[in-house]
Amino acid sequence: MTEQNNSLHSIKRYTLTAALPYTNGPVHIGHLAGVYVPADIYARYLRLNGKDVAFICGSDEHGVPITIRAKKEGISPQEIVDKYHAIIKKSFEDFGISFDNYSRTSSAIHHETASEFFKKLYDDGKFIEETSEQLYDTEAKQFLADRFVTGTCPKCGNENAYGDQCEKCGSSLNATDLINPKSAITGNTPSKKATKHWYLPLQDYEIWLRKWIVEGHKNDWKTNVLGQVKSWLDDGLRPRAVTRDLDWGIPVPVKGAEGKVLYVWFDAPIGYISSTKEWAKRTGKDWEPYWKSNDTKLVHFIGKDNIVFHCIIFPAMLKAEGSYILPDNVPANEFLNLEGEKISTSKNWAVWLHEYLEDFPNKQDVLRYALTANAPETKDNDFTWKDFQARNNNELVAIFGNFINRVAVLTQKYYQGVVPQAHTFTDADENALEQLQQFPAVIGNAIERYRFREASQELMNLARLGNKYLADAEPWILIKTDAKRVETIMFVALQIAAGLAVLVAPFLPFTSVKLKKLLNINPAKLGDSEFITWNGIAENQELLKTGHQIGVPELLFDKIEDEAVQKQLDKLDATKKVNKSENQVLEPQKATVSFDDFAKLDLRVGTILEAEKVAKTKKLLKLKVDVGLEIHTIISGIAENFTPEEVIGKRVSVLINLAPRAIKGIESQGMILMTETPNGTLAFIEPENNAVENGMKIS
Ligand code: MF3
Ligand code: ZN
Repeated sequence: MTEQNNSLHSIKRYTLTAALPYTNGPVHIGHLAGVYVPADIYARYLRLNGKDVAFICGSDEHGVPITIRAKKEGISPQEIVDKYHAIIKKSFEDFGISFDNYSRTSSAIHHETASEFFKKLYDDGKFIEETSEQLYDTEAKQFLADRFVTGTCPKCGNENAYGDQCEKCGSSLNATDLINPKSAITGNTPSKKATKHWYLPLQDYEIWLRKWIVEGHKNDWKTNVLGQVKSWLDDGLRPRAVTRDLDWGIPVPVKGAEGKVLYVWFDAPIGYISSTKEWAKRTGKDWEPYWKSNDTKLVHFIGKDNIVFHCIIFPAMLKAEGSYILPDNVPANEFLNLEGEKISTSKNWAVWLHEYLEDFPNKQDVLRYALTANAPETKDNDFTWKDFQARNNNELVAIFGNFINRVAVLTQKYYQGVVPQAHTFTDADENALEQLQQFPAVIGNAIERYRFREASQELMNLARLGNKYLADAEPWILIKTDAKRVETIMFVALQIAAGLAVLVAPFLPFTSVKLKKLLNINPAKLGDSEFITWNGIAENQELLKTGHQIGVPELLFDKIEDEAVQKQLDKLDATKKVNKSENQVLEPQKATVSFDDFAKLDLRVGTILEAEKVAKTKKLLKLKVDVGLEIHTIISGIAENFTPEEVIGKRVSVLINLAPRAIKGIESQGMILMTETPNGTLAFIEPENNAVENGMKIS
């Protein structure tokens, strides 16, 4: 038995947290893949094993991103958080993310908890109080911290680092560290102004952090997490301001701090604690053991941009407070890209969960599966619609669904849905049943090591095993010659189906419910004697007893067609086009010209009569253009955009008195007027009226 399994037995309860999403927009597939699906798999797995679990989350409703969004939409921060809290909460419910409590940091219980926490540290002398010069926008009359200011990261040179963090290298920054800072509100270069704040002296926790994480967790924390932690510790920690000059947030609960609020990254992680309190209150439990007892295992599920806050700052806060436990692990994921590009809320480059469900109703599990099978666990990964389609069609439909459907249909056909009796087991039968018994440990072990990808692939291997078993045994052929043997085969196949129904539950909860209904199992509660448990699969060879009646066959998955995928790709293309035209920088207006200067230009309507490529060039076409008076030869740099055939017959606008010049040895007598569209293609300036003839003047 592994170390993880041993520790599973000495642990009394689990507190699992998933990063509180900012309520400045809806949630997308990146959130789901990086944080919420893995956390949910872990929580469901533990519950299935009878563990005491508090799976905690809520909305992160303070902080600058929300104020910025509110400004952009022209409504108040409160209206913003109300709107997105509702959308986010519903998305999580729709996707079966089984939080025990989903709270919000604007709630009274959170304001109270965070204020008390600050007050305790303040009273215990854990802060440094200091007045210093901070960045200030004189036009907006606003101090600039966090996302109100961007500039160049002093560590990695990223030009779009924020005042509290560089998302490129993950460094946590103070706003005054930024090179060439710019106000995100006005675009101005900030000036400086003195202001008082409270700082947590992180450097005092450096040695302790190193011992706890770098030495204590070098074998069980992920290498990406350890790597980041080590590099910060090696760089040396500095005092970190935990208060801000803002009007949106939790007021600093001490005298002389009027107009100041807690730094969002001070209050938000305390949100895990307040959400646990809210849950305990609602369910009549005591919250404290979940945060203060050594036999509790605390795990933070986060994305990689949150590592510094969960591995350095929040632990230092908990340590300073003194009565809390520390996380046993912080399994941070890397980022998920979308079709090769970074997911971005502001650029609308995302698959929004609520929109996905409109296009793929009842296919929550397909997305959960695709995101788990391709999770960004050790490196950034790419979500593509083609991969999504392949995961569905080649794995869920062709392997998992196919196996279950064969078992259900044949059981109906041969035995009216009643589990037959097994006779003598062959080696193949015994081998299949023995393998089935290994799967709970194999899958469970991967989950306990936070390797959800691997776990999902093991699950699929069990379905593969079932498929192969049936394909090898060929009951549909034997039924004509050896009906007794077929009874044994179907008995074995039904056991595998029952195992799948249980083991699939953490990953594909909706499918598990459907499959249990189909097999008519586990309607009762965990603990009832007929209930098939995770480990029960390993201990029992007869999950479905002879004589058990199963339900009516029903397809678990269906094929996703090319058209559905194309529709999604088209949607992304449209987004790209919108972004391009929004980002298009128009050239500034040129210097004024006199009317006389303009009148010197002889612009005429013409028609292209002939066109051919200029030999040994890529870009040039040699055109013969009828401009009314005569035919001009014009060399035009449009060959990468148009074939000669395409332009013959085109009506164009021509500058006919441009001084002739030789290009590749051919005299060019004029210029065709063109414009360039945002995506780089060229377009002719064509007269729209057919009465316009060659040689007519353009003026
Ligand atoms: N809102 C933050 C984000 O989306 C995460 C907050 S996690 C918590 O990046 F610990 F502060 F709660
Ligand atoms: Zn950086």
